[in-house]
Amino acid sequence: MPDLLRLSAVRAGYGATVVLEDVALELAERSSLAVLGRNGVGKTTLLGTIMGHTTLHGGSIEYRGKSVSRLPVYERVRLGMGFVPQGRYIFPSLTVEENLIVAERAGPWTLERVYGLFPPLAERRTHMGNQISGGEQQMLAIGRALMGNPALLLMDEPLEGLAPIIVDTLLAALQRLIREESLTAILVEQSARLALEVTERVMVLNRGCVVFSGPSAELRADPKRLANLIAV
Ligand SMILES: Nc1ncnc2c1ncn2[C@@H]1O[C@H](COP(=O)(O)OP(=O)(O)OP(=O)(O)O)[C@@H](O)[C@H]1O
Ligand SMILES: [Mg+2]
Repeated sequence: MPDLLRLSAVRAGYGATVVLEDVALELAERSSLAVLGRNGVGKTTLLGTIMGHTTLHGGSIEYRGKSVSRLPVYERVRLGMGFVPQGRYIFPSLTVEENLIVAERAGPWTLERVYGLFPPLAERRTHMGNQISGGEQQMLAIGRALMGNPALLLMDEPLEGLAPIIVDTLLAALQRLIREESLTAILVEQSARLALEVTERVMVLNRGCVVFSGPSAELRADPKRLANLIAV
């Protein structure tokens, strides 16, 4: 499979501030990558840089073999990038269904399929965005990204702050998305254990640098090394 996304020597940040230093990443079509690391190491900045939310100071970002480094966010969305932001950003004064419909782009993902993946959303379709639980809001945030029919789905801590039983439900849905749909996924997660369970490859960041890149199974099998990498 050819690479869907390729970052080489990426330096990026906010205005003059550089957060990411020399980040390389190669993501094959239909593969999945976990991005791990402690608070503030640059995980959100990495996703933001792929989407076009940050300032790129150097290096290149290629999507389907073409440079997207200079493209604005909406052009990247049009090419098939989807983003589930940390903190969900549900529209509070729209209903669940309206939150989904605003993101609609033609493709295999439809309202019915999103409701099939997340049945609680179907039951709450007429509720306002701020009248549903945290877990339902997270389902809605992922469902809304799917409505845009992305080829590349970037998720920023989708399990953050959720009760364990909801985490299990969402994790099962993520697993289904990653294994059964023709999606390429990047999952930023605080819980290394959970992220390594559902992804094929993993990247560990520390202070804006890549300190590990390899198969998830390798770190799954070596908790000591994992702990060392994340604690550096
Ligand atoms: N909008 C911004 N402007 C300037 N600096 C920022 C901005 N957002 C984040 N930073 C800085 O960039 C660095 C990396 O932040 P980032 O949000 O990417 O970390 P993170 O790994 O996602 O952390 P967390 O696990 O807490 O979500 C931090 O030092 C942070 O203070
Ligand atoms: Mg973050």
